[in-house]
Amino acid sequence: MVEGEDGGRSERGDGGSLTRRSLLVGLGVAGGAGAMYAAMGVLGLAPDRQERDYTPPQRSDFALRGRAAAKVVILGAGVAGLAVAYELGKAGYDCTVLEARDRVGGRNLTLRGGDLLPELPDPLASSGGGGARQVRAQGTAGTREARTQEARTQEARFGEGVYFNAGPARIAQWMVTLDYCRELGVPIELFVNDNPSAYVFNRRMEAPVRARTARADMYGYISELLAKATNAGALDRRLTSGDKAALLDFLSGFGDIGGSYDYAGSDRRGLRVNPGIEEGVPLGAPPPLSEVLGYGLGRTIGFPLAYDQAMPMFQPVGGMDAIVTGLADAVGRDRIHTSTEVNKITNLADGVEIEHSGGSAIRADYCVAALPPHVLARIPGNLDARVVAALRSPQPVSAGKIGLEYRSRWWETDDRIYGGITETDLDISHIWYPSHDFHGRRGLLVGYYNLGADADAYGRLTHAERQKRAVTQGMKIHGEKYRTELVSSVSIDWRRQPHIEGGWAAWPSYEGGFGLLQRPAGRVYFAGDWLTHLVAWQAGALESARNVVAQLHERVIKDG
Ligand code: PHE
Repeated sequence: MVEGEDGGRSERGDGGSLTRRSLLVGLGVAGGAGAMYAAMGVLGLAPDRQERDYTPPQRSDFALRGRAAAKVVILGAGVAGLAVAYELGKAGYDCTVLEARDRVGGRNLTLRGGDLLPELPDPLASSGGGGARQVRAQGTAGTREARTQEARTQEARFGEGVYFNAGPARIAQWMVTLDYCRELGVPIELFVNDNPSAYVFNRRMEAPVRARTARADMYGYISELLAKATNAGALDRRLTSGDKAALLDFLSGFGDIGGSYDYAGSDRRGLRVNPGIEEGVPLGAPPPLSEVLGYGLGRTIGFPLAYDQAMPMFQPVGGMDAIVTGLADAVGRDRIHTSTEVNKITNLADGVEIEHSGGSAIRADYCVAALPPHVLARIPGNLDARVVAALRSPQPVSAGKIGLEYRSRWWETDDRIYGGITETDLDISHIWYPSHDFHGRRGLLVGYYNLGADADAYGRLTHAERQKRAVTQGMKIHGEKYRTELVSSVSIDWRRQPHIEGGWAAWPSYEGGFGLLQRPAGRVYFAGDWLTHLVAWQAGALESARNVVAQLHERVIKDG
């Protein structure tokens, strides 16, 4: 600050010009770092992510204060829980992580050949209700029941090297997730989130259209309409003549429309025969405007423009769970107890007591509950009624995915699609092409990634039925090979995942309960993506973990 004040004074002293630097220093003094940062953003100097100061706890933090690192029990070995244990471990906290599932990672789930995937019989049943239903089903003879029973646990039969990111699968470049990849030595590679060579398809179309073609036509027609409206004077109340000229100039480039402002197609649509020794053969004239409007492209074009979905995006090499492996190894596997269910959470005057299925109750100084809120709300204990009500507020969202393994990479050889996503209005929503192992022998597509009612509809089916339905839909885009080249598949309905019971949990409103749960309830802290404005991102889990670690550490340093 002293340095800054001097700089500010001397610069203002030199003729009083408000340079960028003196402006920033002035704000830094008057408005604190936040105001300075905001102003830097306006001037284009600040990084995109307004980095929240985070300094991990260190062993030396305790040295002069005569405090000792506390004992902390962490509920849940998902990304949030593991990150809490990892960060606290940097200062030597004695962490124990309890995980109800038989594997770590939570929703960060990568499936490979030999992996088993159990599912709950009914997404809306609590563990107790699900059990009752199972007993009834076992008592009923009938092929339908038998099939449902059989399908309850799937085994992934993928070949060597093939994997399926059944949960998170893409990371935006501004997300803290990448900082953890760097720190943990998890190698990353590009994730292709947007590929003009992929298709768009909706039920009104006779055949799929390449995204590049659909976009070129949409941009072309939009430009034509807007240019003609501008020239007809329809926008005269909004635009000066200079504005009009600038807009027309923009539209001619944006839509590739000629001087007459008639969109008549463009090379951007793609070619029927690519150029080589011979000239390329164009695709031909665009379909009529009303047909192109009927594609319903708004979402398709808008989605990859979103701040959290824009290219370039990234994925860990070899599977998303490399992040989980990195965290769990750093924490120490001996500190993590899988297949251990939490039965009761009790705040005591000077600590916490956690009853669990793995042996005698654990006493600790603090607890961090990093479970899905709707699951946590059901666990008995003495949490305040207002806290429990707040935990019940975020609503679990249904999400489903299927991984389809193919014996050949026909999307690369036949369709020339290297990564990216085909958007549809079918109940599969999307088809994702892999962003890795290009030109490999086999490969895996995501045959659906759907939410809400579509996810529930697939969820109700047996795995074999889900596969059949997804393949029938995909054949509308890719034809016979979509069926004939298929070798195996695994599907997930996140509502039916034991101890998770949802793709993510969304707040109907951020007022009230959200704020309450940012603070500890006695000695119990809460962590998870659901406690951030990054719901459904690992970055949310990591930001929340850091926030809780900072709060807890400050308390330990102060109060012991
Ligand atoms: N992170 C998830 C995904 O990228 C869910 C999500 C989708 C979150 C879109 C925000 C926006 O698919």
